[in-house]
Amino acid sequence: MIQKIKILKAIIIIFSLSLTFSANAETVEEIIKGRKALFSKNYSTAKRVQALASKGEFDKAKSLMIKMSENYKTLLEYFPENSKEGFKTEALPLIWENKKEFNDLMKKSSDDMIKLTSLIEDSEDIRATLTQMMWSNCKACHSRFRAPH
Ligand code: HEC
Repeated sequence: MIQKIKILKAIIIIFSLSLTFSANAETVEEIIKGRKALFSKNYSTAKRVQALASKGEFDKAKSLMIKMSENYKTLLEYFPENSKEGFKTEALPLIWENKKEFNDLMKKSSDDMIKLTSLIEDSEDIRATLTQMMWSNCKACHSRFRAPH
């Protein structure tokens, strides 16, 4: 019994330590890889949103839209000054020269996903609405702030 409690304590301590590290001491590598992972996740989520909305499964599509919106907000924190290069980043230096414009695009993308939750169901052309409110934001930002790939 005591043995079990000791093991449990150790697990709790290790777990809380790893949480503090990920929250406070992220390395440049973790930041760049972290934002790439978030963008990739948004990409697969966007494809699911498209598939679900096309099938008329609006409730599921809407909850994914909200997740995408949240991810965009998180991404705002993933472009600190020290993460301009390395680890195969495709982020262009222009981001840090025009940080406000970049952040505004990110916020607009986030806001548009929320607007989409109330527009999608009554849309006459689901595909066009998704292009306008979701996909065009990816393109607007990539064409300016992401290196050709
Ligand atoms: C406000 C700017 C912005 C918006 C909006 C945006 N992206 Fe990106 N995206 C970037 C930047 C910058 C990178 C490069 C990140 C890096 O390599 O460090 C990127 C990278 C990516 C990557 C590559 C990730 C990797 O593993 O290298 C994918 C996939 C991607 N974005 C998909 C999307 C999709 C899909 C959307 C829209 C649903 C979107 N992005 C919206 C700026 C944006």
